[in-house]
Amino acid sequence: MSATRIGVGGSSAPYEVVVGSGVLGELAGLVGGTAARVAVIHPGSLGEIARPVCAALEAAGHVVHPMPVPDGEAAKDAAVAADLWARLGRAGFTRSDAVVGVGGGATTDLAGFVAATWLRGVRCVLVPTTLLGMVDAAVGGKTGINTAEGKNLVGAFHPPAGVLCDLATLPSLPTADYIGGLAEVIKAGFIADPVILDLVESDPEGAVRPEGRHTRELIERAIAVKAEVVSADLRESGRREILNYGHTLGHAIERAENYAFRHGYAVAIGMVFAAELARLDGRLDARTVERHRSILTSVGLPTGYAGEAWAGLRDTMRVDKKARGATLRFVVLEGLARPAILAGPSDALLDAAYRAVSA
Ligand code: GLY
Repeated sequence: MSATRIGVGGSSAPYEVVVGSGVLGELAGLVGGTAARVAVIHPGSLGEIARPVCAALEAAGHVVHPMPVPDGEAAKDAAVAADLWARLGRAGFTRSDAVVGVGGGATTDLAGFVAATWLRGVRCVLVPTTLLGMVDAAVGGKTGINTAEGKNLVGAFHPPAGVLCDLATLPSLPTADYIGGLAEVIKAGFIADPVILDLVESDPEGAVRPEGRHTRELIERAIAVKAEVVSADLRESGRREILNYGHTLGHAIERAENYAFRHGYAVAIGMVFAAELARLDGRLDARTVERHRSILTSVGLPTGYAGEAWAGLRDTMRVDKKARGATLRFVVLEGLARPAILAGPSDALLDAAYRAVSA
């Protein structure tokens, strides 16, 4: 089946997300002919996946510099970024050269950040290899690294020149990671494209497998939602905030778990919490709240969290709010695909919504 191309705007340089199985042949076209050197940033453990990427670029005439980095979140570190800057400098990378990031969301965030900062910005192509990376992290131009004080505190908006989602990489992903990515797909369904919900509900067993009947359509629809949102609001001054559905409580849970809890699992709980908030605030019907629980449960995602954790989670959300200089805000739904903002909810409302998700 041929590749699908989803356009992303919102900046002076629109780009395409190319989706398909075995689409590595598209990579050289996304990187473009002007780059003499290409750095391929990838986790050390993904050498097998990075090798054909490097070979495709070499075949297209580029001088390729494979640059392995630590696996996962450990890569999003200033020392790792500084090491990559040193490697680019030693290899003589100029402003017309390019960076390719291959891996999960942490790696593509790092690669995008290094591309954004090297010589004030060089061309970057992202090749996400996880479901979460394909439907969220690699699309939209957010790049960044973590500091001791928090996640993604240092970064830049640097839209890629292209994103290549090769579905052939997904079967190697552990099932739990795939299911974590599915939370973001389901989120896209609730905030913007309810056909996603219908597809998951029609075949929940298939939805958790990369070989599922609707996999490609689910991924393409979720990417299309993200593409539409970031095209309308790249810098998150308005509509992009809806992508944070389920994330306010979700981030607090990830922090409480020292980031050992998968992002998607925390977001799943956060979405049920947000749905309960909306119901208790008179904005959302009970049936749609239950639909959150049933669809998330059907794919193995959690919908509740420890009751005794609430005081700590509430404090974390408040600190996060202070750090961002805004009132505590939740994305809520006023119906399917009708996101809205609930700003400054009362403690009583928050407490009641948490009681409804406490396990
Ligand atoms: N992951 C949320 C965003 O890209 O805005």
